[in-house]
Amino acid sequence: MKVKIDGETRDVKTLWREDSTVWMIDQRKLPHKFEIISLKNHKETAKAIKTMVTRGAGAIGCAAGFGMAQAALEAKDLPFHEFMEYLNNAAETIKTTRPTAVNLFKAVDRCLVAAGWGDKEYRLERLIKEADNIANEDLKASLAMGESGARLIEDGFRILTHCNAGALAFTDHGTALSPIRYAHREGKKVFVWVDETRPRCQGSRLTAWEMQQEGIPYSVIVDNAAGYYMRRGEVDMVIVGADRVTANGDVVNKIGTYEKAVLAYENNIPFYVAAPGMTFDLETPTGDDVEIEERDSEEVTMMWGVDEAGEPTRVMITREGTIARNPAFDVTPAKYITAFITDRGIIKPPYREGISWTFG
Ligand code: MRU
Repeated sequence: MKVKIDGETRDVKTLWREDSTVWMIDQRKLPHKFEIISLKNHKETAKAIKTMVTRGAGAIGCAAGFGMAQAALEAKDLPFHEFMEYLNNAAETIKTTRPTAVNLFKAVDRCLVAAGWGDKEYRLERLIKEADNIANEDLKASLAMGESGARLIEDGFRILTHCNAGALAFTDHGTALSPIRYAHREGKKVFVWVDETRPRCQGSRLTAWEMQQEGIPYSVIVDNAAGYYMRRGEVDMVIVGADRVTANGDVVNKIGTYEKAVLAYENNIPFYVAAPGMTFDLETPTGDDVEIEERDSEEVTMMWGVDEAGEPTRVMITREGTIARNPAFDVTPAKYITAFITDRGIIKPPYREGISWTFG
């Protein structure tokens, strides 16, 4: 993505690997500060996933693959059995960072399979290659979704999106935001309604930042304003991303997605989900079979931002000791989804058949 930093435009990816170092944009600091941090080993990379330095299904899948590559490099001088034990322990560390996005689990398993046979040197080489393949595929998939999804966007469309399924949620370009970028670059007039997406505000902090960088007109709205604009006829389509799509076409995505889907259905507004093959989980029958991450209640009771002087500040927005719940994702039943925008084209209902035919 093109990022304007101190008056200069730079082309940056959300994350990348150079030998045993992983680099990533620190998304906790955006939109107030653009900072790239380096992670020297797989434990640091796992911690960066857990603490949401990087986030979004694609980005955490790529980070997981890079973490496995780091682990393999850390263990390369160990005897064979210890090398394999080290890799399995690293896999466990990475898999226990966040439970919902399937990309993370698929990435770790792909790396383990790649290291599954032959001499140690070949295992190492194949694993590293597989980690890089995951990141390259992620990039290509984002571009493919942009191209096919843009055909659904008409000139003048006002598009609502939830959370951030943009370049920051992948290595670049994104899923839900990729068709919007593509349509904008084709010269179509598009406008984006950006849901704030409490409690971590991935919409108002990250999606709005991406729209600003790209020069796409947008407005941030509070999460409970979407229905208001839909009912007034000011939303032409909804595009969201996904953390996991199950075999029956249910979508697990950022908390609040379900509400938007029901509201879109009620108001006859098409509701699209953009997701690459890595996000489809054919082994899990329905959305109700997916573990939903429950995060710290402080994300609900505290807010952070910067003060007038630009200094980072945290404030408590509830009374001390207030009890809060914080599920990070919800399930949108397949019946509310108009179609999936994927890297292999558009999938329309019936989904069980379409998904298994496309990705099975
Ligand atoms: O908790 P996050 O920020 O990792 O969750 C990300 C989302 O839920 C996004 O909405 C997204 O659609 C999945 S990533 C493409």
